[in-house]
Amino acid sequence: MEKKELILEGKAKRLYTTEDEALVIQEFKDDASAFNGVKKGSISKKGEINCAISSIFFEYLESYHVPTHFIQIQAPNEMLVKKVDIVLIEAVMRNIATGSLVKRLGFQDGKALDHPVFEIYLKNDDLGDPLINEYHAYALGIALPDEIRSIFRITAKVNAILKSFLERRGLILVDFKLEFGRDEKGELIIADEISPDTCRFWDRKTHKKLDKDRFRFDMGGVDQAYQEILERISKI
Ligand SMILES: Nc1ncnc2c1ncn2[C@@H]1O[C@H](COP(=O)(O)OP(=O)(O)OP(=O)(O)O)[C@@H](O)[C@H]1O
Ligand SMILES: [Mg+2]
Repeated sequence: MEKKELILEGKAKRLYTTEDEALVIQEFKDDASAFNGVKKGSISKKGEINCAISSIFFEYLESYHVPTHFIQIQAPNEMLVKKVDIVLIEAVMRNIATGSLVKRLGFQDGKALDHPVFEIYLKNDDLGDPLINEYHAYALGIALPDEIRSIFRITAKVNAILKSFLERRGLILVDFKLEFGRDEKGELIIADEISPDTCRFWDRKTHKKLDKDRFRFDMGGVDQAYQEILERISKI
């Protein structure tokens, strides 16, 4: 399928229409940003690597009947996906305390959470994607109670599936973010991407960070870390 018109350019991806109204092409860029767009840069081969990683995760989730927007890879950095109306929520699941959980709530960095923490954030760059709860979502009219319950249920299922998939490959799924959209039937499906830009992965033995934190905190070896994730999850 050919790319037609550019509909949307974000910080990490571009979206194009196709001849099929129900499908769009998601093109992954090498551009990287962090801290709400304050830090900018580029990661060599990131577009191709994140496209490949995301497609592996989407296909694996589909095999467990988790609905996603994924249709197929189009080109090394292009993915054909179902067009959705994005729900203006970022769903986050955390297995290990780090990042904002440490800063905001004083958790010890690296503490394993006996109870995984589920959070929702409002997708609004002007407001800095603030943490909200379900009542804010209802009051803002961005999701119905049933939809929030589905988002929670699907996110918990994704956590269970990907955690053990990654464990078998020597990786800890520290936390991750999902975006959801409504398909043509109004059903919620996972959209956007699942990659080292949107998840934290640590090596199980050394706790070496293999995700965007290397870019956020100028730790070096960013492109190698992304490549390593792809190599590890490509093994059967
Ligand atoms: N299947 C889809 N249909 C429609 N829009 C989608 C789909 N998948 C992802 N998107 C949206 O396309 C955009 C992808 O671009 P990118 O991730 O670069 O945005 P961004 O700069 O991170 O901004 P945002 O804060 O909106 O995520 C996002 O706004 C995402 O919500
Ligand atoms: Mg994004």
